[in-house]
Amino acid sequence: MQTNQGAWSTYWQTQKTHSFMANEADQTLLDNLWQSWMENIHSEGRILDLATGNGAAIASMLPKVKDHKFVGVDYADIDLPTHESIEFSGNTDITALPFADDSFQGITSQFGFEYADKVKAFEELVRVLVAGGHFQLVVHHAGSAILESNMMRLEEISSLVDKNGLLSVLTNYVDQRITIEELEAAGQTLISNRQGRLTKSITGDVFATINYIVSFVAKERFQEASEHVNGLFGKLTAEQSRLKQLQNVALDEAALSCLVNAIGKYPVTVSSEPLYSSDNLLLAWVIKGRKCDRS
Ligand SMILES: C[S@@+](CC[C@H](N)C(=O)[O-])C[C@H]1O[C@@H](n2cnc3c(N)ncnc32)[C@H](O)[C@@H]1O
Repeated sequence: MQTNQGAWSTYWQTQKTHSFMANEADQTLLDNLWQSWMENIHSEGRILDLATGNGAAIASMLPKVKDHKFVGVDYADIDLPTHESIEFSGNTDITALPFADDSFQGITSQFGFEYADKVKAFEELVRVLVAGGHFQLVVHHAGSAILESNMMRLEEISSLVDKNGLLSVLTNYVDQRITIEELEAAGQTLISNRQGRLTKSITGDVFATINYIVSFVAKERFQEASEHVNGLFGKLTAEQSRLKQLQNVALDEAALSCLVNAIGKYPVTVSSEPLYSSDNLLLAWVIKGRKCDRS
């Protein structure tokens, strides 16, 4: 069974740059959102990006960098090369930050903050942010287009890994309990049952791996075939865990307002609003604010 953290480590170690595929227009929207927020931070300010993954939000801000320094932290096992303006640190929980009080002029998070215990993470955010410092958090919206496509991908993975899914048929084939014709028929049934709801990146990839596994069985290399089935199963269940987490952490209107109330108890000003794509689809919530100046 994959841990939440393990699922992300697996994901980021495949060199992905983002946690979801934004189209060009949405990416430009996110870039602009981060770049205009960055105008709040003076040119030598330090900016901490929480739950940074492979640094997508930092990448959005980089074109506007002057003498700013970025620090990206994530609890996944990520070992990204440092850059003259960026320091990355994996295995770091945002609810227990290894930084002194008042260390950063700005704090950001893109689809990451909400995965942690949000109140604890916010307490840490306030602690390490300087008085007068700014923060902006882009968090998943339960009604967003991202959630909708996420749900379809989850259903697709279930049809592969569930008890009677294609992978259990594949196991039966590798264990010589069924014929290649029966395996092919199961593949055809999956295609016709999920017409138009199969993706190249999931089922396309699985079909390619199955062909590879079949070639081992044809050579009677059953042990290797079985190891590849296990590998495929591990990869799909890691992805399933990651997508389920996304489903669970997204905030609806009520959850957002509870969060804004909870963080409003700290010495900050805070506001929130939905973010829409250029074709008017819901993308996320944006929560932003400023730590109060010392009185
Ligand atoms: C959806 S990804 C977003 C990554 C990145 N910000 C982006 O926009 O591509 C969520 C990230 O949150 C990280 N994460 C979840 N809980 C965390 C925690 N308690 N502390 C640090 N990182 C955490 C995961 O490892 C994952 O990389």
